[in-house]
Amino acid sequence: RWSVDLKSTAWRTSGLLAPVAEALRAGALVGVPTETVYGLAADATNGQACAGIYAAKGRPSFNPLISHVESLAAAERHGVFDARARALAAAFWPGPLTLVLPRQQGSAISDLVTAGLDTLALRVPNAPVMRWLAEASGRPLAAPSANLSGRISPTTADDVAADLGDRIQHLIDAGPCAIGVESTIVSLAGQRPTLLRPGGLSREAIVAVLGEDLMTADSDDAAPLAPGMLTSHYAPGATVRLEARGVLPGEALLGFGPVPPADAGLAVACFNLSESGDLAEAAANLFTGLRRLDRSGAACICVQPIPAHGLGEAINDRLRRAAAPRG
Ligand code: TXA
Ligand code: MG
Repeated sequence: RWSVDLKSTAWRTSGLLAPVAEALRAGALVGVPTETVYGLAADATNGQACAGIYAAKGRPSFNPLISHVESLAAAERHGVFDARARALAAAFWPGPLTLVLPRQQGSAISDLVTAGLDTLALRVPNAPVMRWLAEASGRPLAAPSANLSGRISPTTADDVAADLGDRIQHLIDAGPCAIGVESTIVSLAGQRPTLLRPGGLSREAIVAVLGEDLMTADSDDAAPLAPGMLTSHYAPGATVRLEARGVLPGEALLGFGPVPPADAGLAVACFNLSESGDLAEAAANLFTGLRRLDRSGAACICVQPIPAHGLGEAINDRLRRAAAPRG
């Protein structure tokens, strides 16, 4: 386990993480911080290493992975960028946006990463450690969220250790993730730009740059476009009840905003995502709150209503999947 203090550049100048970059080149699985959630990273050009990701997560093999690179130039070696893709990359990279693009001929990314599709998902993360690792290893890094498949995504290194501690070679701890929900995924591989997964970048911000509407992919378990699109996902052990205006006996309360339900005192445990009603703060606290309330032992977590705009779209998406009947 490696601790990195992002407030100084010492981790960079000291070469602290050079052994981790070397391990990635040799096919290791590494838990890595990004600005969205912690990732389970491996060399995206190494099929065997990527098979290890699926095995460690217990992930259904039809779910393709995102490849992380250090720059737009690196991304262009793997994906075909049109004018729209370039505009989005210029506006939002590095950051919480993943682009699904036609695959570049000659890209060395493994078919295991694309799950055999002729498109691929690319992201330049804003997290300096992840970008440094991609650059230092000279490899695109495949990285899904570092949790067991279907469970709550990790926003701290301790979350990663709890789910995958015995299945990874290295874990880098750079503190809690600033954004706290996964990247927004936009496909530019079809006729019309399509939102495959709401996430840390709001739909409104993307539409403003594209100057056209984003289609929305429907949840379809038979042919998931993106695994975040599986109906039951992000599931805590407890059941989840949405749009709660009151607390039932035995429930834990996931609150939002300054006004708790009148009977909040009944709750087994409480966690407020943002007392001021700030959606970015709520997104950053979401998975931590779910994990904490799950540990309270409550049979059900009830959730106060959360607005649907901005980052509220991603928060409500994750909560609906956490509340969905389990398969
Ligand atoms: O914020 C994030 O995106 C995090 C951090 C670690 O970067 N990663 C993440 O990866 O959430 P993952 O593997 O949990 O989600 C990858 C998503 C899935 O929904 C997958 O189906 C979709 O990307 N995806 C990957 N390649 C695709 C493709 N070619 N076409 C459509 N969807 C694709
Ligand atoms: Mg995930």
